[in-house]
Amino acid sequence: MELTDLTSTYTLSNGIAIPAVGYGTFRTPANVARQAVKTAIEVGYRHIDTAAVYQNEEAVGQGIKDSGIDRDDVFLTSKLWNTERGYDKTIAAFEASLKRLQTTYLDLYLIHWPANTKQFGNQAAAINAETWRAFEDLYKQRKVKAIGLSNFMPHHVAELLKTARIRPQVDQIEVHPGWGHQEEIKKLQAMGLVVEAWAPLGGQGATVMQNEVINQIAATHAKTPAQVVLRWELQQEVLPLPKSVHEDRMKENADIFDFSLTPTEMKQIAALPKMGGQCADPDTVDF
Ligand SMILES: NC(=O)c1ccc[n+]([C@@H]2O[C@H](COP(=O)([O-])OP(=O)(O)OC[C@H]3O[C@@H](n4cnc5c(N)ncnc54)[C@H](OP(=O)(O)O)[C@@H]3O)[C@@H](O)[C@H]2O)c1
Repeated sequence: MELTDLTSTYTLSNGIAIPAVGYGTFRTPANVARQAVKTAIEVGYRHIDTAAVYQNEEAVGQGIKDSGIDRDDVFLTSKLWNTERGYDKTIAAFEASLKRLQTTYLDLYLIHWPANTKQFGNQAAAINAETWRAFEDLYKQRKVKAIGLSNFMPHHVAELLKTARIRPQVDQIEVHPGWGHQEEIKKLQAMGLVVEAWAPLGGQGATVMQNEVINQIAATHAKTPAQVVLRWELQQEVLPLPKSVHEDRMKENADIFDFSLTPTEMKQIAALPKMGGQCADPDTVDF
């Protein structure tokens, strides 16, 4: 389906529509998040991404309320933090997130990071399977409309699928020029997952947006580097989650539907060397 604005959606494997661009809230402090989320909704964002570990869920919930939008008209995601893995802790963490967000359901709940073998040895797969069992039960109880993963590489997903009764519908991974994960994206999409891009602009530092190739392409299209980068992700059917606390940038990051990158430009960006973001390897992180 053609994407035309912030209300345009991808369809998850369970039939749920998910707005194709989301609004990120990582590192948005609680005292800023309330107003930022309200403004983002006023600008037109209909998909808000938060997480328990961001410590801003309450403010995000307030911002949604302040905007006056119907709860059903906004797609809300949160994530289970790493300290809460396992069946019982997952259920309790989910309920705590709902309470902080002042809502009765989530649109999407994600396992924030896979338990990895570096930290958990041969128990890692069993821990992820047990956490997923809780996700499946929350889904069956209709407390969440879609369930998914974050920072799971294709091999983590394949491992999870050995025991999953319900297939994950989303995987949110780090994707930006300089950390493109092209092969992984194709594999995850072939597994039926919608891939979301975190740090879609290259995260907090400005390296990606200062890159010469990206700036040249931006000039060609009379667009900004941020718009080119987000467009590059959309054209791979990836769902970017740009974060900004500034209204002008929220608008800029949403104005990406009226131009297309050529196949050559897509390849030029894909070929850029490692830069930006965290370039995190989920198999080696120790948190
Ligand atoms: N699943 C995970 O493990 C994970 C990890 C990280 C992030 N995330 C999610 O993904 C979202 C996005 O990632 P992110 O916040 O790390 O990075 P990002 O969206 O790639 O970049 C955000 C940074 O870029 C700046 N910025 C935004 N728009 C801009 C523009 N048009 N021009 C220039 N600078 C601009 C922002 O500053 P201002 O705010 O000052 O404008 C901020 O410093 C997060 O907010 C979070 O929801 C998930």
